[in-house]
Amino acid sequence: MGLVAAACFAEIGHQVISIDNDQEKIAMLNRGEVPIHEEFLPELLARHSGKDLTFSTDLPQAVRQSQAVFIAVGTPSTEHGDADLSYVEQVSREVASVIDDYKIVVEKSTVPVFTSNWVRRVMLLDGAGADSFDVASNPEFLREGTAVGDFLYPDRIVVGADTERCASLLRQIYEPLTSGAYYKGKNIIPNTTGAPIPPPIIVTSTKSAELIKHASNAFLATKISFINAVANICEAVGADIKEVCEGIGTDSRIGRRFLNPGIGYGGSCFPKDLKAFSSVARETGYEFRLLQEVMSINAEQRARFLRKVRSALWTLKGKKLAVLGLAFKGGTDDIRESPALEIVKSLLKEGCEIRAYDPAAAERAAEVLPSQGISYSKSAYEAATGADALLILTDWPEFAKLDLPKLKAALTYPIVVDGRNLHDPADMAANGFIYSSVGRADVQALTRPLQKNGKLAAATTGKAE
Ligand SMILES: NC(=O)c1ccc[n+]([C@@H]2O[C@H](COP(=O)([O-])OP(=O)(O)OC[C@H]3O[C@@H](n4cnc5c(N)ncnc54)[C@H](O)[C@@H]3O)[C@@H](O)[C@H]2O)c1
Repeated sequence: MGLVAAACFAEIGHQVISIDNDQEKIAMLNRGEVPIHEEFLPELLARHSGKDLTFSTDLPQAVRQSQAVFIAVGTPSTEHGDADLSYVEQVSREVASVIDDYKIVVEKSTVPVFTSNWVRRVMLLDGAGADSFDVASNPEFLREGTAVGDFLYPDRIVVGADTERCASLLRQIYEPLTSGAYYKGKNIIPNTTGAPIPPPIIVTSTKSAELIKHASNAFLATKISFINAVANICEAVGADIKEVCEGIGTDSRIGRRFLNPGIGYGGSCFPKDLKAFSSVARETGYEFRLLQEVMSINAEQRARFLRKVRSALWTLKGKKLAVLGLAFKGGTDDIRESPALEIVKSLLKEGCEIRAYDPAAAERAAEVLPSQGISYSKSAYEAATGADALLILTDWPEFAKLDLPKLKAALTYPIVVDGRNLHDPADMAANGFIYSSVGRADVQALTRPLQKNGKLAAATTGKAE
């Protein structure tokens, strides 16, 4: 998030020094390498690196040269589920020790309510003068995969500041976006988000801004778990979740986005932010039971998917499975809390032989997955060659555009279990697949026993278990 924010701040006209204490990351960036897979990031780095965007490990010097210091370090979960704020604390102390004139210190990391009070407190204790800084909250809503577009074309910019001086500096920083000036420039990054131009800026107290971020992520995760729960009912009664989503999503109060049933949410944000928000609520004396349920529906979704695989394949031991997707979502190489990885690990434990393909995340996945029982392919078709079934675990656009006859010819058996609903059951039936997805009727071979290499005469649709 910090790298994307830094590159985008440079893109809208600021002088940016991007600091990390990971020397290897900074060295990569200084060599012109791009450490993460993110659309438009290579273009922005090529455009600004070494000019209005520099990379360094020297935090004191960067702080002295800056009017605003954005903290974008990680805030992972502790073993108790609350946010580990030790990185935020460490950076705040380092910043405090070098503050000479007025600066704003801005939490861009996702943090629990009251963090700004703690940041202020440790900075005062570490010698920063009370009038030499303000602490603000400026939560970031970008999504991995479309992070640059989301930053430059946000639905809204939220700024939490408790003094007018601080709020006004933040307004100035975002002015190229909120005035619309950026969008009139030449060679700008195109709008792929469909967000309003110019974006509105919402100025709140720091506490409200901190809560806005946690509440937003909790709401979005709730939407995902809600539709997954409805998908499960669809499976039980033989209704179609796609039709149901259309029917409810066209209600403007509900909206179509995030009504995507599947194997559940993952990634570095939702799982940890839900736990942290639930933990913050508990500390305030409120038991946020709804969030507990959202998390348990999410976990159940993975277990249900594994049951679908079992029901498609009968026994799992020794089965050769092609797996499409390892990243937690399409468009990124991020594998943190990826449902795909959890499912792959379970299948390996069951004795399956996995051939995996992901357009960007295979290298990272190989670092954390067991080395036995899994190999990595260079394309979906290579992974599918000779496999007993194909599983779709990540919503990469290319997995929705597979050449179905080619895929069928590659597989030993034409079985596809789609955890992301990327294909149309009727299409899969027409192409002779046995196809199982989420919240929709399975496409099954009902007419005669399955023969090798997809020599199945007819496929019809029906309910699975
Ligand atoms: N990833 C997202 O899509 C996203 C979106 C919105 C908000 N956020 C929030 O942003 C924060 C960062 O997330 P991320 O995914 O970018 O994490 P990350 O782990 O990828 O990046 C954090 C960086 O901070 C560096 N760091 C840690 N301690 C440091 C220190 N003392 N000095 C200098 N650098 C230090 C790390 O080396 C690392 O490069 C989290 O709070 C997250 O919830 C992330």
